Amino acid sequence: MRTFRSLLSVIKISRTLTAPQITNYQGSRKCMSSMSLRGQRCLITGGSRGIGFAIASKFASEGATCVIVGRSAETAESACKQLDTQAGQVHSAVQFDVSSCQRVWTPDDLGGMSLQSIDILVNAAGISQQKLLCFTSPDEIDKIIFTNLLGTIYACRSFSRAMMGKKTDSCIINISSVLASRAARGSSIYAASKAGVEGLTAALATELGPRNVRVNAIRPGLIDTDMVSAVQRDGFLPQVPLARLGTPSEVADTALFLVQNKFCNGTILSIDGGFSTS
Ligand SMILES: NC(=O)c1ccc[n+]([C@@H]2O[C@H](COP(=O)([O-])OP(=O)(O)OC[C@H]3O[C@@H](n4cnc5c(N)ncnc54)[C@H](OP(=O)(O)O)[C@@H]3O)[C@@H](O)[C@H]2O)c1
Repeated sequence: MRTFRSLLSVIKISRTLTAPQITNYQGSRKCMSSMSLRGQRCLITGGSRGIGFAIASKFASEGATCVIVGRSAETAESACKQLDTQAGQVHSAVQFDVSSCQRVWTPDDLGGMSLQSIDILVNAAGISQQKLLCFTSPDEIDKIIFTNLLGTIYACRSFSRAMMGKKTDSCIINISSVLASRAARGSSIYAASKAGVEGLTAALATELGPRNVRVNAIRPGLIDTDMVSAVQRDGFLPQVPLARLGTPSEVADTALFLVQNKFCNGTILSIDGGFSTS
């Protein structure tokens, strides 16, 4: 039977946004889950849409409290409002451009939130490229590298410093791409950025493992999000043995596995319908 709270679907907005922006939400949507992440706090860059949002949704339905980071405050807030709150979580939306900050992230950058309160960091913020290198401008090259690679590097650096001296386990999940290792025309800089993310993941796993911070990556194939254009769909689908795009929710299941399996460290897990083997 639905409770009065669930009927009201209460949403609290803590304060009006001014940059840097953070907004908290508490609701009461109900669903079945094992609540395996109850008490965990998770920050997801790129959590406002696509794969990042699916991961935030999955983790919230498992009881985690989520901090969603995106460039657009409106999109991040709207995503936050859709997250499960059956464990009484208060989720937050933070407006922050990961490509804009090449230093340790401070609470000022994150609307007053300290990374020391975070247990799980997911680096899903990313942009794509669909242009031959000879036609890609220096600005476009910088934007891809600053978002996909440097954004992930500085997120990891900031998180690893925040985790110093922390007694409890924590983990990082980076989102790579099948294109890190499978050649495709028009994706040179994107591929370079994702290959960098994989190298970073492997090296950091050795640095942070002894401090109980596990570092893993997911290497998705073609996933049905805004990022995938109709041209890419038509071009790549014939090369996918399962003959379909993956869903963001399938990638989120992989992220949950990497959080739950405490022996995964330095793992780079492909989920691509067989694309990388074809
Ligand atoms: N879809 C695929 O087929 C596929 C395959 C392999 C890997 N991936 C990777 O998976 C990740 C998510 O991709 P997606 O398909 O979910 O893309 P998407 O639907 O376009 O979502 C991208 C997300 O990243 C955020 N974002 C982009 N630039 C940002 C920045 N500078 N600072 C903060 N947030 C930023 C966006 O929010 P705002 O726009 O509000 O900032 C949005 O939440 C990316 O790293 C992508 O490279 C995707």
